[in-house]
Parts: sequence; structure tokens; C-alpha cells
Amino acid sequence: MLVRRARPTDAGPLADLAERTFREAFEAVNTPENMARHCRDSYGEAIQAREIADRDRVTLVCESCGELAGYAQLRWGTPPAGVAAAAPGEIQRLYVARAFHGRGVAQALMDACLAELVARGSDAAWLGVWEHNPRAIAFYRKYGFVAVGEQVFPVGDDPQRDLVMSRPLPASRDSGQPPGA
Ligand SMILES: CC(C)(COP(=O)(O)OP(=O)(O)OC[C@H]1O[C@@H](n2cnc3c(N)ncnc32)[C@H](O)[C@@H]1OP(=O)(O)O)[C@@H](O)C(=O)NCCC(=O)NCCS
Repeated sequence: MLVRRARPTDAGPLADLAERTFREAFEAVNTPENMARHCRDSYGEAIQAREIADRDRVTLVCESCGELAGYAQLRWGTPPAGVAAAAPGEIQRLYVARAFHGRGVAQALMDACLAELVARGSDAAWLGVWEHNPRAIAFYRKYGFVAVGEQVFPVGDDPQRDLVMSRPLPASRDSGQPPGA
């Protein structure tokens, strides 16, 4: 298993993986129209190519036996209220193909995300997670994230409620654990 920065040539496979993992996770709880609209607006080779090239974003992929098993994306925008930090960084997306759930891919991606955030000088990591996504919430709690607020995440015309979760980051690059853990 290898986590690495996405390359321009990953855009097509990443677009496929991104749409597949979003559908695997949320197709059953959204209307077909809202899924189609969200996927059309969010995933596609040109869209992921722009994201990979974006200097204000980091895209990481995890490969297993030559296949993309998961990916994560970081960005550094203005955080929502509740994220109390001077220089927070966002884990915008972290998705693992269903066949790789529970097999360490998510941990490898999260460790790489936290290391990248620390290397960029971020003092906290934050993310939004759908309030009805208990597996992801449990996974983030294992990494020391706690709920600090909420925000709206639109899927098509459905304004869904996301929990905003955050955790502090160490000043050096040598630890994936929250301070004091
Ligand atoms: C969220 C995700 C990245 C986590 O990766 P993973 O490999 O499934 O994570 P793990 O198995 O290590 O950890 C999940 C934890 O949730 C627990 N869990 C599993 N199903 C659960 C459920 N229905 N309710 C609550 N907890 C659950 C697991 O037992 C595990 O905890 P444990 O290690 O203490 O037993 C992955 O499930 C995923 O990609 N899901 C679909 C996309 C998604 O939701 N992404 C996040 C968007 S914010």
C-alpha cells in the first residue's frame, strides 16, 4: 500500500474513484436526481485535473496492487465558526473504496493528511462529515477529532447537515497523535 501525491495522469482514474466512492457511500440515501447533479458538478477528468494542479490544494491517493484504493484532498480556506485555530487546514475529502474499508487504507491516508498539514504549518485539522455517517465519525474520533460546530453540505437541492470536527496538530512532523494522546 502506497500513499503519494496525485499526478496529472491520475485525473481520469481519480474521477472514477471519486464518483464511485461517493455513490457507494450515499446513493441509498439521496434521490437519483440529487446524486446525478452532485456527481456532474463534482467529478470528471477535467475537474479532478484542475484540483490536482491547484497549488492551494493537495490531493493524495492510496494505491494497492496498482489500483487506486482511496484518496484524500486538503485545502486551506476560511474555516467555519467553531474551529478555533490560527492556521487551520481542511481535510476536504477522504474516501476509500468499499472493498478496502477496515483494511488500513483510511489510516494511511489520514496519517499522510496530518503529516502534510503539519508540514505546511497548520495548527489544527478540521473537516465536515454528514451527521448520519457513523462509521466516518467513529473513524475521525479515533484520530482525536471532536465536534465543534456544524455546516450545510448541499447534495443537489438537499441542504444536508454536516458536523464540523476538529483536532489540534503538533508543531513538529513526528506525530499523528493529538497532543497529550
Ligand atoms: C470513513 C472511511 C474513510 C473510514 O475508513 P475505514 O477503513 O472504514 O475505517 P476503520 O474501519 O478503520 O474505522 C471505522 C470505525 O468505525 C466503526 N464502525 C464501523 N461501522 C460503524 C457503524 N455503522 N457505526 C459506528 N461505527 C462503525 C468501526 O468499527 C471502526 O472502529 P474500530 O476500529 O474502533 O472498530 C471509510 O469508511 C469510507 O471511505 N467511507 C465512505 C466515504 C466516507 O464516508 N468518507 C468520509 C466523508 S466525510
